[in-house]
Amino acid sequence: KEIHIIGVPSDYGQNRRGVDMGPSAIRYAGLKEKLERLGYRVRDLGDVMVPTPETRHIEHQKLKYLKEVVSVCEALAERVRDAVGSGYTPVILGGDHSIAMGSLAGMAAAKKQFGVIWFDAHGDMNTDETTPSGNIHGMPLAASIGIGHEALTGLFGIRPKVQPENVVLVGARSIDPPEAELIRQSGVHVFTMADIDRMGMDAVMRKAIELAATGTDGIHLSLDLDGLDPMFAPGVGTPVNGGVTYREGHLAMELLSESGTLLSVDVVEVNPILDHRNQTGRMAVELVESLFGKRVL
Ligand code: ARG
Ligand code: MN
Ligand code: MN
Ligand code: MN
Repeated sequence: KEIHIIGVPSDYGQNRRGVDMGPSAIRYAGLKEKLERLGYRVRDLGDVMVPTPETRHIEHQKLKYLKEVVSVCEALAERVRDAVGSGYTPVILGGDHSIAMGSLAGMAAAKKQFGVIWFDAHGDMNTDETTPSGNIHGMPLAASIGIGHEALTGLFGIRPKVQPENVVLVGARSIDPPEAELIRQSGVHVFTMADIDRMGMDAVMRKAIELAATGTDGIHLSLDLDGLDPMFAPGVGTPVNGGVTYREGHLAMELLSESGTLLSVDVVEVNPILDHRNQTGRMAVELVESLFGKRVL
């Protein structure tokens, strides 16, 4: 199976510059070469067009940079739809997590049914009514299941992108109170860090894969690097202590790889300005290697 790399150097979903350099940091860490070493044919399609920061403007305090986010996501959606529609596996490099709305829109355009594993410290289940920050990177999961402002939920003319019963959050440990209420009402499944502590990552991921894959054509992994503990992924804009360890992260990727259900992945929130010598970019590449089958023996 051929892999298509798509860069999305956008930071319009939040307000710390630097995450727009995520695609460069991940490429610099050797993504393409390492996937090729695993035996894949890999094409790097380059970057989706992102409006320059000099033209950025805030029209809506509760949906910052709405126009820019929507235009980036729709451009990405076309690329993802075309790649998946032609049988390729997209590896999408963010950018902040708002770009996942584009990934899932493209998936929805190409596939009848898919599940989502949302690996993240956060719920990303806010709307313009619940957001504490106005940052759209806190809203992409809600928007993708059809909750929130219609400019986001109706993106690419498909709503919802994914059924909540096929969505599983893994690694959650920072949820805003009104966001928690939305999560409870929505029907998405959640494994918090406390669940990982008690059940272990092996049991959590097996259950997550089952929930996301049942009745679908496969799984999209949305990998927010802040799901990992900041000890292993310091280069993120919204770090939260008490996260997934290095070993647990790799175990999660190995289990997903072995399930044979992976359709597409996005790797988001890598911010090289906040990083230490590209540690987080390298971590992202290592996780993707495990996801695509790298093993010790
Ligand atoms: N819940 C917070 C907010 O809505 C933080 C969201 C962080 N999201 C992320 N993709 N890192 O602003
Ligand atoms: Mn920014
Ligand atoms: Mn996120
Ligand atoms: Mn996050």
